[in-house]
Amino acid sequence: MNTLLNDANTPGGMVEDTAEIIKIRGGRPLSGRVEVKGAKNLVTKAMVAALLGETASVLHDVPDISDVAVVRSLLEVHGVRVDEVEGEEGTLRLDPSGVESAHMEEIDAHAGASRIPILFCGPLLHRLGQAFIPDLGGCRIGDRPIDFHLDALRKFGAVVEKQPNGIRLSAPQGLRGANIHLPYPSVGATEQVLLTAVRAKGVTELKNAAIEPEIMDLIAVLQKMGAIISYEPNRVILIEGVDALRGYDHRAIFDRNEAASWACAALATDGDIFVGGAKQQEMLTFLNVVRKVGGEFDIHEDGIRFRRGGALRPVSVETDVHPGFMTDWQQPLIVALTQAHGESIVHETVYENRFGFTDALVKMGANIVVHPHGLQDGPRRVPRRNLEQAATITGPTPLHGADIVVPDLRGGYSHVIAALTAEGESTISNIGIISRGYEKFLSKLQLLGADFDIVG
Ligand code: EPZ
Repeated sequence: MNTLLNDANTPGGMVEDTAEIIKIRGGRPLSGRVEVKGAKNLVTKAMVAALLGETASVLHDVPDISDVAVVRSLLEVHGVRVDEVEGEEGTLRLDPSGVESAHMEEIDAHAGASRIPILFCGPLLHRLGQAFIPDLGGCRIGDRPIDFHLDALRKFGAVVEKQPNGIRLSAPQGLRGANIHLPYPSVGATEQVLLTAVRAKGVTELKNAAIEPEIMDLIAVLQKMGAIISYEPNRVILIEGVDALRGYDHRAIFDRNEAASWACAALATDGDIFVGGAKQQEMLTFLNVVRKVGGEFDIHEDGIRFRRGGALRPVSVETDVHPGFMTDWQQPLIVALTQAHGESIVHETVYENRFGFTDALVKMGANIVVHPHGLQDGPRRVPRRNLEQAATITGPTPLHGADIVVPDLRGGYSHVIAALTAEGESTISNIGIISRGYEKFLSKLQLLGADFDIVG
């Protein structure tokens, strides 16, 4: 029987999505349908790519999230005209014909808590011969350095000068193709190389590249613009620089992080959620874990439906670069694992410090132990890096309400889902941060049947 009664995208009676503090009364399953739009981690990069074109670009399925707003205003201070296309919700037209240098203070004021500004380097160096990048924000989940980015830019011939509040780059001789071997398949550094190499003189060979679906979609965007990029075996990408690029017309790949988040919400609360727009191919690894943990999913043309298939079972997962289990999926999964029968293990190998959010779950009654230096025993797929933080989650534990201040985007989402799973009332503050990556978050919760009030 289809229990999917609500449509979280139907307007009318919607809550405001700008709250900072909510009071949640938990213990009710979340059921209904939510739509996911374009992936935050592609849309923001495709917007930066528009800077490289000589004509305007059109991007469809842009979610209304604050990371998009940050990139939009950074593009605007650099003279890019950004307009919503009338009659087409979520479509932006980006016209870079008036690109100009911006003042350092202006850039700093618009950079917000985002890491995207670092990706402006290559495009601005090509367009203007110089760039200023303020000190970066982003979620506090480890050191998150930018050394791979700067080393790659230097190889292209950029001169990097550290300043008190950011970095200034120039390219007195122009940028030329380079041979780059990343120490780790970093998503951002791969995008940096792509966005720089497409207009550099000559060929760039990038080894140990990240190959996430969002990166493949960025390559598709760049190819539409006139770039020549080939993807070789073993994480090698070849880019033949071209003299000029034009605008693109592109529909962004769906947000598989948001899709996985709602799937975990269905498992944690024993609900039934249809995620419109989710596709199987990009989520294969996640779907395997859903099956192992005892979840059910049905693949439809227009989305995927998630629910429990019985009691939840424990699993052992290790986060990794694509095609592994994404680091952004572990936080909502852990909330569901608090309800599984037995001990689960989650190894975090992408970031040094991404289990901080579990403190709040413990406060709510979860049995989670974080092992900062990993576990001696226990299944490891491929012990890879020196980042071997692990968490063991023993369940099922009833959760109870608590007062929580959310720390970051994915951790914050997980806290809200934990509060909805818990019996009793929780007050969750700083939830504005969740709108960095989840469009209409509170409206979607409301239409899935969550019981909450906005209190600030
Ligand atoms: C992207 O971050 C995403 N952000 C992250 O999503 C995601 O978790 C991550 O990729 C991994 O998939 C965006 O796309 C905006 P990395 P990014 O460079 O590009 C180290 C979310 O919640 N590293 O692949 O910054 C780094 O410290 C966010 O949506 C260096 O050491 O990730 C980390 O340990 C959070 N030096 C590892 O590499 C560098 O110069 C992977 O980072 C760059 C990275």
